[in-house]
Amino acid sequence: MCGIIGITSTPNYSPEGVAKLVVRALLRLEYRGYDSAGVAGIVNGEIVVRKARGKIEDVSRRLGFDKIRSYCMIGHTRWATHGVPSDRNAHPHTDCRKWFAVVHNGILENHAELRRRLERKGHVFRSDTDTEVLPHLVEDYYVVLGNVMSAFEKALGLIRGSYAFAMISVHEPDKIFFAKNKNPLVVGIGKGFNTVASDIAAIIELTRRIVVLRDGWYGYVSPHDIVIYDERGEPIDWKKYVITVEWSVEDASKSGYPHYMLKEIMEQPVALQNTLAGIRRDKAVEKAINILLNAEKIYITAAGTSYHAGLYYASLTSILSGTLVHPFIASEYELYVKTINEGDAVIAVSQSGETMDTLNAVREAKKQGAKIIAVSNVVESSIPRESDTTIYTRAGPEIGVAATKTFTSQTLALYWLSIHYALARGSINQSEAKELLREAEKAPWLIRRAIEMSKPLAEKLAAEISSAGSMYVLSRGIGVPVAMEGALKIKEIGYIHAEAYPAGESKHGPIALIEKGFPVIFIVPNDPRLVYLLMGNIEEMKSRGALTIGVLSENTCRECKLDIRIETPYADKLLVPFTHTPFIQLLSYYIAINKGYDPDKPRNLAKTVTVE
Ligand code: AGP
Repeated sequence: MCGIIGITSTPNYSPEGVAKLVVRALLRLEYRGYDSAGVAGIVNGEIVVRKARGKIEDVSRRLGFDKIRSYCMIGHTRWATHGVPSDRNAHPHTDCRKWFAVVHNGILENHAELRRRLERKGHVFRSDTDTEVLPHLVEDYYVVLGNVMSAFEKALGLIRGSYAFAMISVHEPDKIFFAKNKNPLVVGIGKGFNTVASDIAAIIELTRRIVVLRDGWYGYVSPHDIVIYDERGEPIDWKKYVITVEWSVEDASKSGYPHYMLKEIMEQPVALQNTLAGIRRDKAVEKAINILLNAEKIYITAAGTSYHAGLYYASLTSILSGTLVHPFIASEYELYVKTINEGDAVIAVSQSGETMDTLNAVREAKKQGAKIIAVSNVVESSIPRESDTTIYTRAGPEIGVAATKTFTSQTLALYWLSIHYALARGSINQSEAKELLREAEKAPWLIRRAIEMSKPLAEKLAAEISSAGSMYVLSRGIGVPVAMEGALKIKEIGYIHAEAYPAGESKHGPIALIEKGFPVIFIVPNDPRLVYLLMGNIEEMKSRGALTIGVLSENTCRECKLDIRIETPYADKLLVPFTHTPFIQLLSYYIAINKGYDPDKPRNLAKTVTVE
């Protein structure tokens, strides 16, 4: 949940040193966590550390990160787990003699015990973090072994927990040592330099050739060398693992938009286009269908926004195939995993492919003998690697903490899967499938039109309802997952309490809260029966004084008792994620802007949650 960067170069590649590159990479990593930041570099044979609480831009300017003249540097942006956000807890951390500086993502479970042991030996700690045990451990072993790699290996052997580490040392001043376990880390390959990073987006301006490290792998990079060992300490022929990422620098920058979130909302037509193009040519859907056809039960698991995409898939598959899909929230896997049997199918949805809750659910389901189908946006990430097949969305990097373009890309991929499954099991015929797939092809156009139609209204409405303390987002049937996604966006970006539930539930309790002006947003799918039922729900809210806001297809439900109509392009009800989601994304974006909050960095949140 923090960001890591390490760059080591020759003076030829980067005559002024690598500090400016490190700062740029940190800015790209800020979405990973942003309560403090720091860098360390080797300067004239010594370690220089600069770090403080605060946002990277401010801390870097104040402490002059980019003024450090070093050819071997590490950097970190933090989302606090152990130890409050503060200057002393910011990374990098060093040992007593300042021989080593370390940055870390993850949680070291046995840090307290190791710290006590080290303190008894005379080590003095200068932070409250779990991370600081590592440099002291390496120091301890170095005194005995006199070799950095051996000392690092020994220290890793004592640690329990999750980690991605990058470490520099005065003893081998052009090397960055690294290790990975349950937290993402990649090696970026350059000419005259090499890098390590927690995210591909951080190094995309330097190189597109990367090795995605696996759990238990460790090693070092120097400007000319890359050495990687596997979990047994055997050297790896890493050249076999090099991949070339398709993302461009443009993909990972704001490209003139004030925020990543807005850019990513606007990019949705292209993200859907690319996702469609990708699914059409890869074999993953075919493999997934085989797994699904052979399964007695089908589950879908995920967290947050990805879970909402999973709910959409479950509704769709019930409508198209009459098959019951069991959705479950990944962190609750213990309640479900015992019901999974050999050969059952589990679809795991995760844009990052690294969410710990989802990864745990996948691992436990595999132990039960399930086959796993991943849906992910990040090639070679942990969940795809541990799955039987992966359907990749091709939304490009998503930097804003709020999932936007990845949600609509996931729903499109799952729509595609659901249609092919319905066809394969004979629930729909060829011509019905063709018709539905033709609808899917319209998704990029529909979302473009939906953005155009809803943007000005979202901006206007945000100004009116920004001060609301609470609101409901309601729908029925296939629209409920979109309503749930809307409520999540309003909470996480707009900081307004928002609750979503199937509208029929109002009379069973929630309507008690309605009073004059209470905003209720209705996601109205384009289906006569749902429109009719929702019309009744709108009426019951209106008559109790609610401010009723309807998101609905143009020219439908003219007689609905709505205070505000947000019209979206006319489309099949099953395409509701593409027609109705942009409004609610834009509404939450503009609520944040109205309140003076940064939508890219919502408080208390980080992009990829790699802790349980
Ligand atoms: C959504 O806006 C959030 N950032 C969050 O709910 C996210 O969807 C969730 O943490 C799952 O992430 P994943 O898709 O990377 O697994």
